[in-house]
Amino acid sequence: MTTIVAMPGDGIGKTVLPESIKVLNAVGFKAEYVHADIGWDFWCKEGNALPQRTIDLLEKHKIGLFGAITSKPKDAAAKELDPSLRDKGYVYFSPIVGLRQHFNLDICIRPCKSFKGNPLNFIRRTKNSFEEPLVDTVIFRQNTEGLYAGVEWTNPPKTVRDAFETHSKMKAFKNVPSEDLAISTRIMSRQACQRIAREAFEYAKKFGYKNVTICEKPNVLRETSGMMLNEAKKIAKEYPGIEIWDTNIDAQMMWLTKNPENYGVIVAENMFGDIISDGFAGLVGGLGFACSANIGKDVAVFEPTHGSAPKYQELNPSIVNPIAMILSACMMLDHLGEKEKAERIRTAIAKVIEESKVQTYDMLKLKGGPDVFAKGACTTGEMTDEIIKNL
Ligand code: NAI
Ligand code: MG
Repeated sequence: MTTIVAMPGDGIGKTVLPESIKVLNAVGFKAEYVHADIGWDFWCKEGNALPQRTIDLLEKHKIGLFGAITSKPKDAAAKELDPSLRDKGYVYFSPIVGLRQHFNLDICIRPCKSFKGNPLNFIRRTKNSFEEPLVDTVIFRQNTEGLYAGVEWTNPPKTVRDAFETHSKMKAFKNVPSEDLAISTRIMSRQACQRIAREAFEYAKKFGYKNVTICEKPNVLRETSGMMLNEAKKIAKEYPGIEIWDTNIDAQMMWLTKNPENYGVIVAENMFGDIISDGFAGLVGGLGFACSANIGKDVAVFEPTHGSAPKYQELNPSIVNPIAMILSACMMLDHLGEKEKAERIRTAIAKVIEESKVQTYDMLKLKGGPDVFAKGACTTGEMTDEIIKNL
């Protein structure tokens, strides 16, 4: 039997992850779930948001289902550390970024597909009315390198400063003292560019998408974006039926508000992929609907793209939308070859959304809070139950 490492994490991660397991059980997916610790509590208590025992469990079982974690900036994190651990050199790192890097989960897939009848779908004004083009875009985000690789300094050490000084553009910073200098790098390797581009083209071929867009900024970021685009162009030659487009990240953010239905698969570096996937998610219902997969050669972790939404974690019953988490569980089923079960769940979700009898507060465009039920919103659990009823 398959064993799934269940990492609820913090806040609403703890709420939505069990909901997805209910649906997996209801669809007849046979698996064992082992709990793994991750997130803020473990940072505060142990000085490590990603304990070694969690890494060991994933190493062993290979498949993880993840809720969400709370992250805070370095200084805020240091303040919440258990007093016995303070000033001992513990530094906070986001455990999900840590997981991606540790297991080299370099392929991040974020499908953004509208469900018919979702009141949050993108609409476009026409002369006397509006139209609602269905969006079906899949973002392939390079997940381990680029601007989020973590190679950065405030007050860079002399050797680093000296190395940077060899670049002619550093003249502009000649008179800035090192302590007043912050540097974050964007490092990309040819192999990683090739891998993400190839996975994207393979996906487009397998699922019949007609174009792959490389969304970068090669006119300015000539080295890193340039490498991504060039490698993708070479790979594109092996896929004659699929067009390769290239757009700049800034222009792409505008185009997605005009003609999002034109885009099939999109490839982008880590940070650009983060941005563009939130942009597309907003067109198909927002964070309550945005699912993702982080896939490496051995290990894969599936998670909603939303965070821990701390302001809603205490609400009982919970108001948050479990669909993003449940769709992430569907991506896990796809990955495990259980496509029929995944499709059954997605069809049930589509039915529930189209019937629009049961809707979470976000679908009703309400401000979140305990009063949403009086205004017609369902609870998190009621949404799950309705999906299960429709399986
Ligand atoms: P967030 O995604 O937690 O929440 C932003 C807003 O989106 C919420 O206030 C809520 O209005 C809405 N929302 C999120 N999930 C929803 C759901 N399932 N149903 C309905 N509405 C939902 O992002 P925020 O507030 O920027 O960050 C909160 C914490 O989460 C931070 O500590 C942040 O670092 C962390 N975070 C963690 C992520 C992860 O675990 N992968 C990703 C993003 C943020
Ligand atoms: Mg994000």
